[in-house]
Amino acid sequence: MSEVTLFPDEPGKKFARRIDNQLSKNERRGASAKDVFDKKKVMDDVLDKTSIMTLSKLISSGTISYVNGIVGSGKESKMYWAVDPDGNNIALKIYLVTASNFKKRQPYLVDDPRFSRIKRGTRNLVEIWAQKEFRNLTQCVKSGIPSIRPIRVLKNVLVLEFVGKNGVPAKTLVESEVDEKDYKDSISIISQLYKKAELVHADFSEYNIFKTENGLILFDLGSAVDIRHRNAKEFLQRDITNISRFFVKRGLTVEHPSDIMARVTN
Ligand SMILES: Nc1ncnc2c1ncn2[C@@H]1O[C@H](COP(=O)(O)OP(=O)(O)OP(=O)(O)O)[C@@H](O)[C@H]1O
Ligand SMILES: [Mg+2]
Repeated sequence: MSEVTLFPDEPGKKFARRIDNQLSKNERRGASAKDVFDKKKVMDDVLDKTSIMTLSKLISSGTISYVNGIVGSGKESKMYWAVDPDGNNIALKIYLVTASNFKKRQPYLVDDPRFSRIKRGTRNLVEIWAQKEFRNLTQCVKSGIPSIRPIRVLKNVLVLEFVGKNGVPAKTLVESEVDEKDYKDSISIISQLYKKAELVHADFSEYNIFKTENGLILFDLGSAVDIRHRNAKEFLQRDITNISRFFVKRGLTVEHPSDIMARVTN
C-alpha cells in the first residue's frame, strides 16, 4: 500500500521559511554553504504535516539547528541527518504517519505490560511507537548495552546520536567483514538485553547492528518488547535463529540456537 500523503503546501512553505531564517542565521554565524539545510532534498521527500511541524519545533526549541538531508528511507520511517546547536551530528528517525503500517505493529505493543493501556487502532499509534523505541533505547543505555543513545522523542520524531561520519551511517554487520568475535558479541548483546534490560529485540539481525571501531552498536529498537510479553520467548528464539543463520552464511560455526536460548533465559 502506498504512503498516505501529505498536505505539504501551507505547512511546507512555512517550514521552508523557518528553515530559510535559520539558514541566514547560520550563514551570519559563518556556517559553510555545505552545512546548510538542503531544502530541496527534504522537501522533495514526502513528509506529512505533523512531521514538518515537529521538525520545526525541534529547531525552535534548540534540540537541532538544522537538517542536512535524508540518510535513508524505509517503509515505515525516514532517517535524516541533522546538526545540533553545538555542531554535533544528530540522526532523526521520522516514523511515517500512514494508515497501512501500524496494524502489524500492534502485536508488539498490546501485550507489552508497559504499554497495555493504549487504545488500539488510534492514529497516534505512530507516536506511541516512537516513544516505545525511545524508551527501549533508554532502558538499553541504562543497562550498559552497546546501543544508540536516544536524545529526545517528540511526536513521531525520534532524536538520536548519529553513528557514522559526515552524514554517512556506520556500516552494519551485513555490510562488513565479520568474525568470531562479532558472533560472540552479537549473542552477548541478545543475552544482556534479556537479562539486564529485560527486553527482547524482536527484529535482531545483521541489518540492525552497526560494526564500528568501538565495537558493535545495536539499533532499531521499535519492535523490542518487555520479557513479560506473552510472545517474548518466541521473538527471542527468532532473534537467535536469524543472527545464527547470518553467521553460518558467512562461514562461521555457531552454537545450536536452542542451547543459546536455554542459557539466555536461565
Ligand atoms: N543513529 C543513527 N545514526 C546514523 N544512521 C542511522 C542511525 N540509526 C539508523 N541509521 C541508518 O538508518 C537506517 C534505518 O534505520 P532503522 O533500522 O532504525 O529504521 P527502519 O525503519 O527499521 O528501517 P529499515 O526498514 O530499513 O530497517 C539504518 O540502516 C542505518 O543505516
Ligand atoms: Mg532496521
